[in-house]
Amino acid sequence: MGAIFQSLGRTVTAGVVLLLVMLGLVSALTGGVAVSAQHAWFAFLFRWFHVLSGVMWIGLLWYFNFVQIPSMPKIPDEQKPAVSKVIAPTALFWFRWAAIATMVTGLILAGMNGYLGQALSLQKGVHAIGIGMWLGLIMAGNVWMIIWPNQKKALGIVQVEPAEKAKAARMAMLASRFNTMLSIPMLYCMVAQQNGGL
Ligand code: HEM
Repeated sequence: MGAIFQSLGRTVTAGVVLLLVMLGLVSALTGGVAVSAQHAWFAFLFRWFHVLSGVMWIGLLWYFNFVQIPSMPKIPDEQKPAVSKVIAPTALFWFRWAAIATMVTGLILAGMNGYLGQALSLQKGVHAIGIGMWLGLIMAGNVWMIIWPNQKKALGIVQVEPAEKAKAARMAMLASRFNTMLSIPMLYCMVAQQNGGL
């Protein structure tokens, strides 16, 4: 067991194996799981990928806002590079690519559900998910066009003058806070569509 959890790759593989064992058991007990080549099953599969990548994205957004940003002032200056040079760049890598994966799987899902255009034009019956999708798209744009370029300056990945570095750090923080605010109605809309919430 220890050998599995000492490696992230093996841990993730173990999660997938656990899922397959679980599906095998359910199949043996019930005489077959509902896995088929049907459109509905593929839409379900994309929904799963979508939620996995969405959890990675918003989990890291909340990590920045609930943990890292409030902790930085409490960390002695000589220890700060551990966060700014090691932890934050790794977290930002998974954060920005998870945003892309969530957006792509979400748009594919809407296409598979047959309402991409109707949702984006906020039509009746799909306005809940349409609002959620717009909020998600604004958030993804914010990640790539505001947060990431400013973080590159703030973390020293791109070299700039100290004054510009401080300005970029503040801008990245405010944009990240803006996304944290939007994540609350966005997630409400995501789950509202299927569950009569709006
Ligand atoms: C650009 C961003 C996004 C787009 C275009 C998008 C699109 C969609 C679509 C089309 C659905 C299916 C709704 C339905 O008919 O039930 C959905 C559901 C969902 N999305 Fe997103 N989404 C985005 C961002 C996110 C994010 C960041 C999360 C964070 C976890 C998320 C979590 C969910 C959840 C939990 C569901 C509900 C699944 C279910 O009830 O079965 N989405 N999204």
